[in-house]
Amino acid sequence: MACYFRRAIAEQVARVVGLPSEKILHHVHAIPVHRKRSSPDFQLYLKSVLDDPLNATYYQEKAEKLTGKLVCDSIISDFGFARGVLTFKINRPLLVKKVMINIRQDGSRYGFNSELLSGFPKGLTLVEFSSPNIAKKFHVGHLRSTIIGNFIANLKEAVGNKVLRVNYLGDWGLQFGLLGAGFTKFGCEEKLKSNPLQHLFEVYVEVNAAAEKDEEMKQSAQEFMSKLESGHPQALSLWTHFRGLSIEEYAKVYKRLGVQFDEYTGESFYREKYQDILNLLRSKNILKITKEGTGVVDLTENGDLSAFSTVMRSDGSSLYITRDLAAAIDRMEKYNFDEMVYVTDKSQQTHFQNLFKILKMLGKDQVDCCKHVMFGRVQGMQTRRGDVIFLEDVLDEARARMLQNMAKAETSKTTEDPADTAEKIGVAALIIQDFKGQLQADYRFSWNDALQSCGDTGVFLQYTHARLQSLLTLWSSREEEDFNASCLQEPSAIATLQHLLRYDEVIYKTLKELQPRYLVAYLMGLGHLANVAHQSLHVKGSTPEVAHARLHFFNSIRVVLASGMKLLGISPVDKM
Ligand code: ARG
Repeated sequence: MACYFRRAIAEQVARVVGLPSEKILHHVHAIPVHRKRSSPDFQLYLKSVLDDPLNATYYQEKAEKLTGKLVCDSIISDFGFARGVLTFKINRPLLVKKVMINIRQDGSRYGFNSELLSGFPKGLTLVEFSSPNIAKKFHVGHLRSTIIGNFIANLKEAVGNKVLRVNYLGDWGLQFGLLGAGFTKFGCEEKLKSNPLQHLFEVYVEVNAAAEKDEEMKQSAQEFMSKLESGHPQALSLWTHFRGLSIEEYAKVYKRLGVQFDEYTGESFYREKYQDILNLLRSKNILKITKEGTGVVDLTENGDLSAFSTVMRSDGSSLYITRDLAAAIDRMEKYNFDEMVYVTDKSQQTHFQNLFKILKMLGKDQVDCCKHVMFGRVQGMQTRRGDVIFLEDVLDEARARMLQNMAKAETSKTTEDPADTAEKIGVAALIIQDFKGQLQADYRFSWNDALQSCGDTGVFLQYTHARLQSLLTLWSSREEEDFNASCLQEPSAIATLQHLLRYDEVIYKTLKELQPRYLVAYLMGLGHLANVAHQSLHVKGSTPEVAHARLHFFNSIRVVLASGMKLLGISPVDKM
């Protein structure tokens, strides 16, 4: 296991350079595996631990002198030094033994108990994500927010935080005025029951178009909205009805994605509380009233209002940011979180910058633990029905396409529930396609690329997992913990174990930058190594001792692969 080896290396180096080993530990890194080239296991940039500004030749001399003092022992079998980098090779049987036993013991927790991760703050993390707008389109941005937010929540949980998953619905605003006014005219209770999201959207589109042409419709929408704002019981009950049905519907679709929320809140929760915010702003002398009667907060240093944020309409009502201010303060008081993460597309960057700035002006220092994780736009995601309107459409499309591919493929196994398998693979495909690049980058979506069975896709990961799982049905000596490490000395086995050694470092980097692509790249690497090993390290036809060691090895890969996939929000399939 990585920490054990890193510690041993740090202690050797510490003794030689005369520094505490704690200072060195974090600079010892497992070396990324290169295909077809055998390499040592760990490296250390000498510069990172020698801080005296030496000139180059003197440095080289000193470094050589130092490395000359390193000695091989039962853990480290070889050293190297070139271009400022110290390299370490671990005793081969020990490497194999330690890594595999550690995976056996820790199971899906492998890598997460690493001391590398101990420095991250622990406590309550509130992750707010998905947050669609009722009666409007669930666009691809909401899909991205859903899977990215879920991933962040999974990751934070895995490293020991308590996590609260919050869905902050767009459940207030003029669309409800339109819906309320339009429902009597265009709505149908039956349709609403059988497919609420679809029907509310239809009504919304219809009434929207009508309101554009017809002043009277517009008028009644505004009237309905004022009724809502003033708490008119009938209006509110219709609104509650729409909202409740929509949430039920969302929850069903989230379930297909493997996503759950601890709390559904929404902008409506703050439809009254925003008044307190305005009062707070007034009491701190931050609220300025413009000539037009709107309320603004000056965001400049010098007070020239060249940058400002509008927090009150001229009729005294709230805006998106006003409700967000109320929500943030409410959460600070209610949960006293240690960290809060908002996940939305990057078009809301300024919104969150302003939000955080105003919170700071209000003296809410907890804002320093608030973060906006943003992502880029997706182009070209279409389904057979056309543009994406509902999340369900995307999932249906992924499943249908995958079922078709499975039917075509000769290697497909018969699975008990092909639709369920297809769904899990389809979701994996969507997630990997989305997580491959930098989150902030825009990308062009292609069903064809996402659903390839080779190449860096979710289908490939699922395929690899299923293949390992089917190989493991041969493992009758599964209970037997011990194995002969000298049966696993082939280059393909060693390379894979070296890769497994690096898992905690990858988690560290993923967590630090909140970018899933590091984990994705790692799992792809693991998948490729697993397939290479699978081709050369046969189980059938080997002696029982070798077969047992190899199956043990393949199971180690499967455990880590599955754990990483789950973190990303993928349910690994056992057959496909
Ligand atoms: N409902 C919003 C939208 O669809 C996203 C909400 C993001 N969260 C927030 N606290 N503002 O654009």
